[in-house]
Amino acid sequence: MEVFRFVSLLCFSWIFLIRDTNQLQSSQTQVLLQLRKHLEYPKQLESWVNNGIDLCYISSPQVNITCQDNFVTEIKIFGDMQKRASSFNGFPIPYQTLSQNFSMDSFIATLSRLNSLRVLSLVSLGIWGEIPDKIHRLQFLEYLDLSWNFFYGSIPQTISRIVKLETLKLDGNFLNGTFPDWFDSISNLTSLSLKNNLLNGPLPSSVQRITSLNDINLSNNGISGKLFDLSSLSRLRWVDFSNNRLDSELSIMPKGVIVVLLSNNSFIGRIPEQYSQLNQLQQLDLSRNSLQGTIPAGIFTLRSIVSLNLTSNMFSGSIPIHLSCGSKLVSVDISNNRLSGLLPFCLRSNVKSRAVKFTGNCLLTNSNNQRPETYCVENIREKKKSHLKNLGILIGVIGGIVVILALLAFGFLVFCRRYCPRGTSEQHLLHNTVQDNSVTGFTSEILTNARFISNTSKLGSQGIPAHRLFSIDELNAATNFFDKSTLIGESSIGKIYKGRLETGVWVAIRCLRVSKRFTIRNLKLRLDLLAKLRHPHLVCLLGHCIESEVKDQFGANKVYLIYEYVPNGNYRAHLSETNSEKVLKWSDRLAILIGIAKAVHFLHTGVIPGFLSNRLKANNILLNEHRMGKLSDYGLFVVAQEIDKDKEGGDGLKSWEMKSLEDDIYSFGLILLESLVGPSVCARKESFLLNEMVSLGNSEGQKRIVDPTVLASCSQESLSIVISLTINCISPESSTRPSFEDVLWNLQYAAQVQEAKDGDRKIGKTLLSP
Ligand SMILES: *[C@@H]1O[C@H](CO)[C@@H](O)[C@H](O)[C@H]1NC(C)=O
Ligand SMILES: *[C@@H]1O[C@H](CO)[C@@H](O)[C@H](O)[C@H]1NC(C)=O
Ligand SMILES: *[C@@H]1O[C@H](CO)[C@@H](O)[C@H](O)[C@H]1NC(C)=O
Ligand SMILES: *[C@@H]1O[C@H](CO)[C@@H](O)[C@H](O)[C@H]1NC(C)=O
Ligand SMILES: *[C@@H]1O[C@H](CO)[C@@H](O)[C@H](O)[C@H]1NC(C)=O
Ligand SMILES: *[C@@H]1O[C@H](CO)[C@@H](O)[C@H](O)[C@H]1NC(C)=O
Ligand SMILES: *[C@@H]1O[C@H](CO)[C@@H](O)[C@H](O)[C@H]1NC(C)=O
Repeated sequence: MEVFRFVSLLCFSWIFLIRDTNQLQSSQTQVLLQLRKHLEYPKQLESWVNNGIDLCYISSPQVNITCQDNFVTEIKIFGDMQKRASSFNGFPIPYQTLSQNFSMDSFIATLSRLNSLRVLSLVSLGIWGEIPDKIHRLQFLEYLDLSWNFFYGSIPQTISRIVKLETLKLDGNFLNGTFPDWFDSISNLTSLSLKNNLLNGPLPSSVQRITSLNDINLSNNGISGKLFDLSSLSRLRWVDFSNNRLDSELSIMPKGVIVVLLSNNSFIGRIPEQYSQLNQLQQLDLSRNSLQGTIPAGIFTLRSIVSLNLTSNMFSGSIPIHLSCGSKLVSVDISNNRLSGLLPFCLRSNVKSRAVKFTGNCLLTNSNNQRPETYCVENIREKKKSHLKNLGILIGVIGGIVVILALLAFGFLVFCRRYCPRGTSEQHLLHNTVQDNSVTGFTSEILTNARFISNTSKLGSQGIPAHRLFSIDELNAATNFFDKSTLIGESSIGKIYKGRLETGVWVAIRCLRVSKRFTIRNLKLRLDLLAKLRHPHLVCLLGHCIESEVKDQFGANKVYLIYEYVPNGNYRAHLSETNSEKVLKWSDRLAILIGIAKAVHFLHTGVIPGFLSNRLKANNILLNEHRMGKLSDYGLFVVAQEIDKDKEGGDGLKSWEMKSLEDDIYSFGLILLESLVGPSVCARKESFLLNEMVSLGNSEGQKRIVDPTVLASCSQESLSIVISLTINCISPESSTRPSFEDVLWNLQYAAQVQEAKDGDRKIGKTLLSP
């Protein structure tokens, strides 16, 4: 120690000798020595002794003094009183603060005698007290840092009179006033840091006018209220308001912002779309708020983004699976939200350079740290419910009126039954029809209207002959009296024969046994309905023949439905095709699926809306000579019975699947699945759904499961769209399934993406057709 002292003394004397002409004015030295006394002789200042040594140019990790023209311009002292009480009541604490003798007032008075002082940094020195008004006497300060001391009370407004101030740091004190509203009057303020204090109350709107501001650190305070639109602060790069109590919606941010930290507040609403344009943004932390809605996909793709933390909010919906993440993105945390659907490819574990946390959502992934789907929809639904409450009352009133009218109508019908002539009244027939179809949801209104829709066959079915009656003789001639050799299909609801009419036209004749309950007239009405369903992607019903018109023994009716003959086999057979010329490429499959989706959409919403269960199956999709898909077996529930007990080989329907089959969306989902993985995989339906579906979400799983033909001919993006669509369609929760319009839209989108990829003209044509 003695040696060290001696050496440093030697050094100082040497500095003294060469700096002779530049000697710090002795008055300035006196001030420094007094400061040392004020600060109660901290050991960092041990070397300050009054023996004529120049105190300038002392440089150590803890202490820097800089002088210019014999005046002190910079003082930086880092003390070691880092121990910090959790609260402070304004009275000194031994070993943590300076003693009772310390007076902030006289300390400032002493400092103000250094009248060239530009930089003052006194950190962790145990200084305590309120910041005195007199602080403005340090009028030339550009940099003031009094962090990690024991200041309390409010920040005195006189600071605004230090006009050259550029940096103000008061972190880690016990300042407990409100956030000052006069910072905008310091014209050159670039950095403001008031972290870890007890500031409270709302932010004043004047923050929007501190236009010189570069960075603002206000984390760990109790600031509440609204976050103002900060876009006027064009130089702002760093925004840290984390761990406060701000409870507004998120505000728009200036374009050049680099870091935005808003975690652990009470922010509500959505992420503004504008965040997708913050091209300088590197770090965005919105964790632990009450934000909702979908996450704008744009924030994942930002050019500079490195880290995104959105954990513990209420974000819902799904993130587009074909997202392309920004190239610098290394950390993403979307855990503990209400996200559903598939995880985008660029956020999966196969991207090694990227750490992604996604637990606690309802995503379809392999990991088991996800919540059940219901968790993610519940909240959204509850909201809707409350919205609908008022509407509910209105509906209740209207409903009441309707019930009364219905009772009157019923009375009238009963009256009619008794007194109107039997079996001939149209009302009677319609009434029957309605009863028979109550399961399928037809109302008498639809049926009546349907009868008056004329020329429906015009709808996109040019060139197809009008629906007509066939005679049994004609059919006998066409099929050689239904010879066994003409039988081409059989199911629980009847046989199908292939026949050739006199005109040379090939037809398929479906032979159906229909309910005894239908009168002939009623049956005709039903067949008329079927005849109105004409669409280029529906196998056309050319006409019918009711055998019981000829002879009727038990009242059971035999009906023949005559369809156009579609020669090229069914879709399922084509999917198992291995001949490379006949095999259906991805774009071919999409084209067929789009056609069928259009047809089903037509059945649901077209001329006669409400044809909702249509036995959608891959082998009910027939292909014509141009490999255009046409749906058969649609709408048969109108005439046939017992359709539900379909026991066709291989399907083995069980439990929830059974119920789901009533839903065309679900059935169509299975067709999509078959298009993706091929019929053989799909035959193991239930186990497949439970075990393999999830692995469709990742690329290894895809390689394993997806039909190699598809993999070889699809673009990844197009495939992803259809995979996520499929998963949505066969969701066990029917309310979360998409509408057919969505299905159609997604398929067309997937086809466009594919078309763009391989410039295939064929799909383009299909898209243009109705
Ligand atoms: C003093 O300056 C040196 C070198 O410029 C630096 O390493 C040190 O951290 C500074 N000390 C303080 C207290 O600012
Ligand atoms: C700030 O803290 C001091 C010391 O604990 C206390 O005396 C004063 O009342 C507080 N002021 C406010 C506005 O809370
Ligand atoms: C406080 O000041 C008194 C008188 O000026 C002095 O006796 C005492 O030692 C000082 N206490 C400390 C901790 O410096
Ligand atoms: C603010 O900074 C600019 C550029 O550094 C300077 O010219 C101007 O004098 C400063 N204003 C004040 C009030 O110090
Ligand atoms: C705000 O805090 C960050 C991280 O602690 C720091 O890098 C930045 O310089 C701070 N800004 C100010 C003005 O202190
Ligand atoms: C969140 O902020 C509050 C202050 O508003 C703080 O007390 C709490 O510790 C913070 N939570 C976390 C996890 O940082
Ligand atoms: C996201 O923020 C939370 C706290 O708000 C933190 O616990 C978590 O570690 C952060 N995630 C990442 C990836 O940094």
